[in-house]
Order: sequence, then structure tokens, then C-alpha cells
Amino acid sequence: MNTPPDNQAFLRIEAVTKDFGSFRAVDGVNLDVARGEIFALLGSSGCGKSTLLRMLAGFETPSAGRVVLGGVDLAGRPPYERPVNMMFQSYALFPHLSVWDNIAFGLRRDGLPRAEVQARVEEMLRLVQMTSFATRKPHQLSGGQQQRVALARSLAKRPQLLLLDEPLGALDKKLREETQIELVNIIRQIGVTCVMVTHDQEEAMMMASRIAVMSQGRLLQIGAPAEVYESPSSRFVADFIGNVNLMDGTVEDGAHVRCADVVHELSEPFAAGAGQAVTVAVRPEKIRLDAAGTAGANQVQGVVRAFSYFGDATMYHLELPSGARLKANVENERRHGELAFAVGDSVWASWQPGAQVVLTE
Ligand SMILES: Nc1ncnc2c1ncn2[C@@H]1O[C@H](COP(=O)(O)OP(=O)(O)OP(=O)(O)O)[C@@H](O)[C@H]1O
Ligand SMILES: [Mg+2]
Repeated sequence: MNTPPDNQAFLRIEAVTKDFGSFRAVDGVNLDVARGEIFALLGSSGCGKSTLLRMLAGFETPSAGRVVLGGVDLAGRPPYERPVNMMFQSYALFPHLSVWDNIAFGLRRDGLPRAEVQARVEEMLRLVQMTSFATRKPHQLSGGQQQRVALARSLAKRPQLLLLDEPLGALDKKLREETQIELVNIIRQIGVTCVMVTHDQEEAMMMASRIAVMSQGRLLQIGAPAEVYESPSSRFVADFIGNVNLMDGTVEDGAHVRCADVVHELSEPFAAGAGQAVTVAVRPEKIRLDAAGTAGANQVQGVVRAFSYFGDATMYHLELPSGARLKANVENERRHGELAFAVGDSVWASWQPGAQVVLTE
């Protein structure tokens, strides 16, 4: 296969669209993924994630656009002729086959010599640390162990592109977090290029070097996790990734935005004419709460109406003078659940210039 130099995209998705009848499930997606990259597609249910992945694997044909892998246009190639392996949303292991035979299945079907099958299965078992479980059947394994076998089965054929559709969806939170780290280590070790789909933003941010936020078939923003979190390009992305306070306002001058309850002072001048309607986004962890304060920019007095205790932090819900709500996340530095504020307390919320993102979309 004709391979591009490393600085070029290994996987190139060009203006790919998928229509099911009159319904457009994927809408003009453009995306380049580098060799060895772990890329995550993030979006709510039904936004087109699996459909996009299925077009990469060859299970669906794009209505328009093309998919190029290692410089080769994949149009017209059936799934088994693509150097791609997809681990499905519900990765079904063959229940009647042992772990060993599950991993060997695709290799045998491809007619690999016995010695080669043996060597690859053993290599995969070591990789996912399941060597001592080789003779067990899937029902004799935990969810996390089954997941590792499914991954070993996907990697056994040494695909150039690994597609993971909600790989950890079946696992509980704790096991999920452990497995995320394991999975990244295994993918890195093999050096395979990986596109994964998830609706869990923490998972996407933890595992991937870049993420794309998808909505209604389109990619709204592509970037490194910190970039998308700290510099969302739209209200939708700001709201979708993490927790956020969104305040509608009007630009006063380059450095100030007036909202119903507060005047925002920005750290950098905002390139927009006075009078333009914008939305100011402030993450709850960037807001500080104090019992006392003075009126001024970037601060507002509110009344605690509710709080959620998360152990490591407490999220306070304040009611502002206009009736709008403001969420502030305060770290719990002391033990014994002593909270800084109670429901009904009047408090001052404040933040630094630069804590805000001004959004026009
Ligand atoms: N074969 C099909 N025929 C008609 N519509 C389909 C078909 N496959 C998917 N769709 C529709 O396309 C949209 C996108 O589906 P898709 O499975 O890609 O969503 P998703 O983002 O993977 O969602 P989830 O997170 O729930 O898995 C949905 O509205 C779905 O109903
Ligand atoms: Mg899906």
C-alpha cells in the first residue's frame, strides 16, 4: 500500500455524507487522522457516530464523499478487503468458543497457517494479559475481561485502522476508568491508528489525543481535549462538554459584555462591534465563592438555592438577582463534609478576566 509521509493524514474523510431515504444521518464530514493517533467521536445518541464508523469499515456506502486510507481510496472495497477492524457497540464474543478460539477465529477463517495462528493468538493473549484465561468460555469472564478478549480479537488480524464503537459501554464506572488506561496502553503499544466512538466525554478526553464533537450528522468542533473544553466554538459545544454557565449579553466595548446580572470584564479585547448580542460561557470551577464582596465587574451576589456534594467538590446552585441560576464548583479541602455555605446563604461569586469564553454561535 502506498503510504504517505508521517506528517500527512493517514485516514482522510472527505465531505462524507450518508442519507437513509430523506434522512441525512451524516452531513458533509471532513476529517484527517494521523498515523498512530487515537481519535474520539463524541456526540449524543442518534447524531451519526456509528454510521460514520460503519462507512469507514465498509458496512455502509457513503451517499457522497470519499474515505482514503494510506493514500488509497476505499470506495467499492468490501469490509474484508479493508485493512480495518471494527469492534462493535455490542461486541459479541462467540459464547460456545473458548477465549483462545475467539481470538483465533478470524485468523483461521483467513486461512493462516497453524503456527502463525498460534503465535498471533499467544501474542494477543499476552498483550491483553489474558494468557491464564485462554481455555475459559466468555460467560466465565468478567465484563472487563470479555472486553479485553474482544479487543484481542479485533487486533489479531493486525488492522491498520482500529474502529471502536462504545468499547467500554458495558462496563461499570470504576472498571471503565481502569480499562480506559489499559486500552490506551495497548493501542499505543501496537501503534495502530484508532477512531473510537463514545457518548462519554470524560472517556473521550481521557483516551484521545483529539476529539470531534458531533451533532445531527456534522462535526461541530475538532481539537485537543483541552482546546475543546477551554475554547469551545459554540454554545452547543460549551454545553455538551462539561458543565457551564451560559449568560446572554451585549458587547459594550472591546473588553466588556453586559449581561442581566453582571458585567463581564474580558482579559483580551473581543473583536465585535458594540451592541452585538453574544453569549458568555463560564465553567463552574472557575467561579470562586466568598461570604463578602463588593459590586464590580466579574462578580455578582446570589443566594444558595441548592448544592450537590460529590465528595471531592461541591456544586453550588445560586439564584442571581434576575432569577437566573449560576453554578459554582468548590473543592472540598476539609474533611467531615463541612460545607462552606448552606441553602439560603447570601454569597458573592467572582471570577478572573479570562475565565470567560465569548460565543457568537
Ligand atoms: N439503516 C438505517 N436506516 C435508517 N436510518 C438509520 C439507519 N441507521 C441509522 N439510522 C439513523 O441515523 C441516525 C444516526 O444513527 P447512528 O447509529 O449513527 O447514531 P449514533 O450516534 O451511533 O447513536 P448511539 O449513541 O445511540 O449509538 C439515527 O437517527 C438512526 O435512526
Ligand atoms: Mg452508535
